[in-house]
Amino acid sequence: MSEQIQQIKVTIDDQTIMVDPGTSILSAARQIGGNVVPPAMCFYSSLKGSGGKCRTCLVEVSAGSEKDPRPMPKLVASCSTNVMDGMIVKNKTSDRVIDARKGVVELLLINHPLDCPVCDQAGECSLQDLAFEHGASHSRYEFERREFDQIDIGEYIKLHMTRCILCYRCVYIANQLTDNREHGVLKRGDASEIGTFIENSLDNDFIGNVIDVCPVGALTDKTFRFRSRVWYTKPMDASCSCGKCSGNAVVWMIGDEIARVTARKDKYGEVKEFICNDCRFNKKELSDWKIEGPRQIDRHSVISANHYEKAAPIHTPLLNKA
Ligand code: SF4
Ligand code: FES
Repeated sequence: MSEQIQQIKVTIDDQTIMVDPGTSILSAARQIGGNVVPPAMCFYSSLKGSGGKCRTCLVEVSAGSEKDPRPMPKLVASCSTNVMDGMIVKNKTSDRVIDARKGVVELLLINHPLDCPVCDQAGECSLQDLAFEHGASHSRYEFERREFDQIDIGEYIKLHMTRCILCYRCVYIANQLTDNREHGVLKRGDASEIGTFIENSLDNDFIGNVIDVCPVGALTDKTFRFRSRVWYTKPMDASCSCGKCSGNAVVWMIGDEIARVTARKDKYGEVKEFICNDCRFNKKELSDWKIEGPRQIDRHSVISANHYEKAAPIHTPLLNKA
């Protein structure tokens, strides 16, 4: 007979939930949902080792546990701190957290160019959302910003290192989803950069997923660059029979044309089923896909504007015509 897991109690912003031991504060907050969920720029549930880099998910622990109710002296990263029984956490209700997050945004924006008007990620960029919600209107930084040339990594992906916030997600996905180590972070401190080892092309069948996991516009899809602002496109759930991946994707349409293909993301911007390069870059004809219906975008960002209020099942015979 399997042993019953004794759940533990955690309270976040005055909302209490029972969770399994070993659950992180961030994941407990996601189980509650809504406003209590801290933002996360580097943590990605399906990527081993992710988290602990960006500090956007900082929270205040005002009581460590029922046994030891002392507050934790410093703010902690909610993605890499596990809950204890009786822990009390403050996210939105803590002035210290709001202030610290403002500082984190200022730090992340030190080198990040404010090129949202021309960046393909605008409208679905986690840093843009964070800056809008928590950012200060000016920067105190007076020194020269880091500058890099744009790099073509392979046939389909462009790296804008100036926009990178060194969250390591692309490094982890390249390590975990592909057979060989494809790239990594070179150098240290403010000289760190994503390196592709002499710009070797990243030509693995699944490497296109680095675009989906990048929280900013540092890795962009060359087949879609500058074609449209995302909020002018219409996302549709679509599937195809693919021998390499599940074939479940979202096609972003301009009129009757498929402008780009991405994996399906949840409300935290995370992909559960990664798609292959063929589906992402090469299947741009309507005849390649079975269109299932409008994609409901749950994410709280510009990308969910101007789309579909309700995911009503609709007939799309025109779209399925070859
Ligand atoms: S390129 Fe994007 S995903 Fe990779 S480390 Fe930089 S910000 Fe993160
Ligand atoms: S999401 Fe927790 S440190 Fe980045």
